[in-house]
Amino acid sequence: MSKLTPVLSAFWDQKDSFTIEGYKRNGGYKAIEKALSMPEDDVIKLVKDSGLRGRGGAGFPTGMKWGFIPQGDNKEHYFVVNADESEPGTCKDTPLLMANPHSLIEGIIIGSYAIRANYAFIYIRGEVAHVIRRVQQAIDDAYKAGYLGKNILGKGFDLELVLHVGAGAYICGEETALLDSLEGFRGQPRLRPPFPAIAGLYARPTVVNNVESVASVPAIIDKGVEWFAAMGTEKSKGFTLYSLSGHVKNPGQFEAPLGITLRELIEMAGGIRNGHKLKFWTPGGSSTPLFTDAHLDTPLDYEGVAAAGSMLGTKALQIFDETVCIVRAVLRWTEFYKHESCGKCTPCREGTWWLVQILQDLESGKGEAKDLDKLLDLCDNIAGRSFCALADGAASPIISSIKYFRDEYLEHLKQGGCPFDPAKSTLFDLAETR
Ligand SMILES: Cc1cc2nc3c(=O)[nH]c(=O)nc-3n(C[C@H](O)[C@H](O)[C@H](O)COP(=O)(O)O)c2cc1C
Ligand code: SF4
Repeated sequence: MSKLTPVLSAFWDQKDSFTIEGYKRNGGYKAIEKALSMPEDDVIKLVKDSGLRGRGGAGFPTGMKWGFIPQGDNKEHYFVVNADESEPGTCKDTPLLMANPHSLIEGIIIGSYAIRANYAFIYIRGEVAHVIRRVQQAIDDAYKAGYLGKNILGKGFDLELVLHVGAGAYICGEETALLDSLEGFRGQPRLRPPFPAIAGLYARPTVVNNVESVASVPAIIDKGVEWFAAMGTEKSKGFTLYSLSGHVKNPGQFEAPLGITLRELIEMAGGIRNGHKLKFWTPGGSSTPLFTDAHLDTPLDYEGVAAAGSMLGTKALQIFDETVCIVRAVLRWTEFYKHESCGKCTPCREGTWWLVQILQDLESGKGEAKDLDKLLDLCDNIAGRSFCALADGAASPIISSIKYFRDEYLEHLKQGGCPFDPAKSTLFDLAETR
């Protein structure tokens, strides 16, 4: 029996799922009628009670975040959606925005109403021109239908929604760098406190939430707390999008309850590509410590993954089989972090550069065994000692790969180069996937 629980993805196979007509036909824009008839604080309480946790990486409770916005402060409040999605392997918000953009817009209306914001923003990365066009069309249609603008549904609530296109930088997904970028500055993380709930956009109380978190809200309002909480595990409630990529037969989005295992998901994805076996995988994108086939039965919820030594992150499950050289894969990720380091703080700016140099030497067999200790020492001086979590993310694949695959690093030194056949050692060769 399938363990899938399609909610956000329930109608993605309908040709017009992304249109306002398609969304309404499938029950959309019913939840705002209910939410806008409730006192604002009751909406916050409902989202709190549901147990919904942020889907952007850290898993912070969404209702609690909304509850932090001070009320009666006579200040403008802002609701900001993080649609930057740049973490390697993370690819859930883009299909959600393409196939079901109105679930996000409905969630924004509900969230903005709850925190008493009359202005909301979607910050989207600039490279995804097709997604930008689709979301802008959805916003225009929502305005025309009276779901955005003045006096929404005659309930006396006004909301202006702006789609802001970034220039494409991974660091602009970090919520305070995002706010700086939105204000027109260079996107670099801010010192906290103050947190965005107190001084966010234009130094006003601001909620920043991930696309999937916000898009999940209408269904919770519509179907209720018990319905949502019946899915998932004790502390990680509900359904979520798991993105399987890499060496599985049928990669894609799998919407399932939190707590499902990779073994179950791989089975639903048709298995590892023919004739190959699982070697390593990321539970939540490249910045979460790697797992191996020993972790196939780890429950993929926040607690289960943490207990096994990693993080659920964005639930970006990148699957690598035995043809992939671990050193090569880790070097590619590290080059990404070096490139995307915003340069604000020294451990990350300088450290990621050194990590790349050492990994390049190791991959080409020019390094020495003691370079592994040097790598770990560098990671120790970068992770937890930098300004933001980008640096922690850069260290994760290195530390975990040395933990599980030290011998493979050493084999490069023994053989004076990569022991993998370059013709077979492929990260993403589509021809070989099936
Ligand atoms: C380097 C870096 C990049 C990030 N990129 C994203 C992103 O693309 N999308 C996202 O929602 N959160 C991203 N985050 C997490 C955000 O800072 C923030 O926690 C999140 O948007 C909160 O939303 P949520 O509570 O709904 O999960 C990133 C964090 C870091 C440190
Ligand atoms: S850790 Fe890296 S990305 Fe974060 S502020 Fe420092 S230099 Fe910038």
